[in-house]
Amino acid sequence: MNLGLKDKVAVVTASSRGLGRAVAEALAAEGAKLALCSRDAGAVGATADEIRKKYGVEVYSASCDVEDCGRVEGFAAEVLERLGAVHVLFANAGGPPPGTIADFTPADFEKAIRLNLLSVISLVHAFLPAIRRQGWGRIIASTSITVKQPAANLALSNVARVGVVAFMKTLAGEHAASNITCNTVAPGYIMTDRVESLIQSKSMKDGMAYDAAEREITAGIPAGRIGRPEEFGSLVAFLASERAAYITGETILIDGGAYRGLM
Ligand SMILES: NC(=O)c1ccc[n+]([C@@H]2O[C@H](COP(=O)([O-])OP(=O)(O)OC[C@H]3O[C@@H](n4cnc5c(N)ncnc54)[C@H](OP(=O)(O)O)[C@@H]3O)[C@@H](O)[C@H]2O)c1
Repeated sequence: MNLGLKDKVAVVTASSRGLGRAVAEALAAEGAKLALCSRDAGAVGATADEIRKKYGVEVYSASCDVEDCGRVEGFAAEVLERLGAVHVLFANAGGPPPGTIADFTPADFEKAIRLNLLSVISLVHAFLPAIRRQGWGRIIASTSITVKQPAANLALSNVARVGVVAFMKTLAGEHAASNITCNTVAPGYIMTDRVESLIQSKSMKDGMAYDAAEREITAGIPAGRIGRPEEFGSLVAFLASERAAYITGETILIDGGAYRGLM
């Protein structure tokens, strides 16, 4: 299936590794030009070099902490200067630390909200004018299964992310008539460094071996396994494509059936 992404410009944040990198690779495989960022310029630069070599596409990379609204505006200006346009925005960030409500102060919640809600708002604020100019765009925000079903020991994630769904739904309604779709993706467990460290934290908290902690998590997933980053990348590439023109305002789970609700 031709996704119609050749030479489109895609911004993928928090993309030196993990889910962001998987999305960058899936879009590069379709011929999209990329703008990547993470906090560590060296790490995201190395990822950009590897993607350039592997897929032969143009890749701009820079250090940008998505918690810093001012830096996000600066990054957007750089991307437009280097690549001339923006068609796709994949708004992603790192995850907050695990723990229960009693483990955290209001300041910890404020920081998590900056990382996982305000970052999406400031990325959209910075890139939407350019997306609107060409009258075609795809905005995809990354959240978590926790927006549908709070997870044990992930209190900050459970609370901080849910506003993203309301923001993206509102945005979708405002721009649906302008060929700009706005969707949210909600991963369950996809194997990345973060999931490895969450399994590690569970194994320490529950006093069990790493493998036993992983088996316990997998037992709660009807598919019987943790997802692969490239499966997540494929979903986002489809949502970013011409083919997904009539899908907007949705929150799409990718969780091997782990979510237990009906809607
Ligand atoms: N993997 C899963 O199963 C899963 C499930 C649900 C939700 N999520 C969420 O999806 C997001 C990505 O997860 P992941 O598994 O890919 O994590 P990961 O493997 O830890 O990768 C995180 C990426 O984000 C970058 N990053 C972290 N904080 C940043 C910031 N403030 N500004 C810019 N870049 C930042 C990191 O690079 P630097 O360190 O260089 O900044 C790295 O490239 C997280 O919010 C996570 O909680 C993941």
